[in-house]
Amino acid sequence: MASLVLLLALLALSFSYSLASDPSPLQDFCVADLNSNMFVNGFVCKSPKLVTADDFTAHSLDKPGNTSNPQGSAVTPVFVEQLTGLNTLGVSLARLDFAPYGLIVPHYHPRGTEIMTVLEGELYVGFVTSAPDFKLFTKIVKKGDVFVFPKGLVHFQFNYGAKKAVAISGLGSQDPGVVLVPNAVFGSNPPINDGILAKAFQLDKKIIDYLQSKF
Ligand SMILES: *[C@@H]1O[C@H](CO)[C@@H](O)[C@H](O)[C@H]1NC(C)=O
Repeated sequence: MASLVLLLALLALSFSYSLASDPSPLQDFCVADLNSNMFVNGFVCKSPKLVTADDFTAHSLDKPGNTSNPQGSAVTPVFVEQLTGLNTLGVSLARLDFAPYGLIVPHYHPRGTEIMTVLEGELYVGFVTSAPDFKLFTKIVKKGDVFVFPKGLVHFQFNYGAKKAVAISGLGSQDPGVVLVPNAVFGSNPPINDGILAKAFQLDKKIIDYLQSKF
């Protein structure tokens, strides 16, 4: 009997952890009040009396992002800051644009799984599992194909073709966050001590200084 109770408790716990949003919302919606000075886990709710349909609408995804940058890629997010109605709902979207040979650099989302579909062009995508295996999973994805990047794992999207590419991603958080690996490691503010990075990468400090100078 005790073990049954424990099993049920564990099941209930794992079920609640598997939900991307609050398992027991206390209202129909909690449109983010971006201007509030109060700090809670997420944004505080705007008064429901002041909420309109516009709070649940965004108009930005028809426009290509500007890919004139060294990586040749652009991400246009529709996260809670762009669409306040997403607050507490555990989902969001992003448009990904790629110039020919454009790359979204290795990165991860600390708070959300990403499911991506290709609208135009072809991408070489992949993610790496955590320790101890660090196994790389990759795939070529074309128009209509869908690929999922599990939460918290380092992944990349590369347009290996000479034509532009466009993809749309759904993310399992209203604010999934993004950690760009090159920026976090070599472009932090202030910089990580070059001796530490030299030891980590088994490189000469001069090479680390050069890498850090790129940010
Ligand atoms: C795109 O970004 C580049 C580099 O920042 C800038 O020079 C250019 O004006 C931008 N183009 C548009 C259409 O905004």
